[in-house]
Amino acid sequence: MKKFTCVEDIGDLRAAVAEALEIKRDRFAYSELGRNRTLLMIFFNSSLRTRLSTQKAAMNLGMNVMVLDVNQGAWKLETERGVVMDGDKAEHLLEAIPVMASYCDLIGVRSFAQLKDKAEDYEERVIEQFIRYSGRPVFSMEAATRHPLQSFADLITIEEHKTTERPKIVMTWAPHPKALPQAVPNSFAEWINATDYEFVITHPEGYELDPKFVGRAKVEYDQRKAFEGADFIYAKNWSAYADPNYGQVISTDRDWTVDSEKMALTNNAYFMHCLPVRRNMIVTDEVIESERSLVIPEAANREISAEVVIKRLLESLK
Ligand code: CP
Repeated sequence: MKKFTCVEDIGDLRAAVAEALEIKRDRFAYSELGRNRTLLMIFFNSSLRTRLSTQKAAMNLGMNVMVLDVNQGAWKLETERGVVMDGDKAEHLLEAIPVMASYCDLIGVRSFAQLKDKAEDYEERVIEQFIRYSGRPVFSMEAATRHPLQSFADLITIEEHKTTERPKIVMTWAPHPKALPQAVPNSFAEWINATDYEFVITHPEGYELDPKFVGRAKVEYDQRKAFEGADFIYAKNWSAYADPNYGQVISTDRDWTVDSEKMALTNNAYFMHCLPVRRNMIVTDEVIESERSLVIPEAANREISAEVVIKRLLESLK
């Protein structure tokens, strides 16, 4: 594997999950693989889980790790070619990328959607430049349109907890006060569509995702109807994708908050969310604290998904 930005890059999902479960049984089994290798993690945006779990995964593999927060202590980076750099951005990505690459063997990048220009976001301009100009294996730590390390961890978590071969998975939009990217729901949909699980997406009208990611999923605008018989409820907020409202909050309807009354409609479903989560906006205290909440094991599996991905990228260097 030379890069990791989407579900296609991981190949066979059953093999990937089996490898993840093997690593989970002994996460230090490959501690020699990364000896004298360096991972550079570059953050254009904040993180708790991705930062810690990815660093831990790399350390499990014996790597050295460097972390750069672009907006805290580094030169502000210009990402567009052709710009007259007379503003506050002192360095261009086209110099910064090869310089950073000269200090490391692998690069992880977090660069969220700006939510101003759909075409720009969906072209993935920042991470694509790292892939093109670094000469190093690059992996996404959440890019503009996908968060594959999260989705892989979500899939591992579902595999660990499912009690039927084809569980019903429901991804539900839930309210949030700020405009969030579509990366997590896009990516979750992409990964679940690559399985044979039953898959339903529910959201208010106007929150339709890019059809490329919706794929074979059934879209149900009645949240309560969608929840009926569900085995897993995956909650997430996202901003509007459809024009003319791209990147905007068009509803904060608290009737979409996941609560115990709605969870009672399910097949005793597990509750999932990638975190961070706004309690009593996305989900009630009662649901997230219930014994069916998987948010902590799901976050813990971020270490495992990252370890599989970094292991495979290291193997490509040999
Ligand atoms: N789920 C997730 O990616 O969390 P962070 O934004 O804290 O890394």
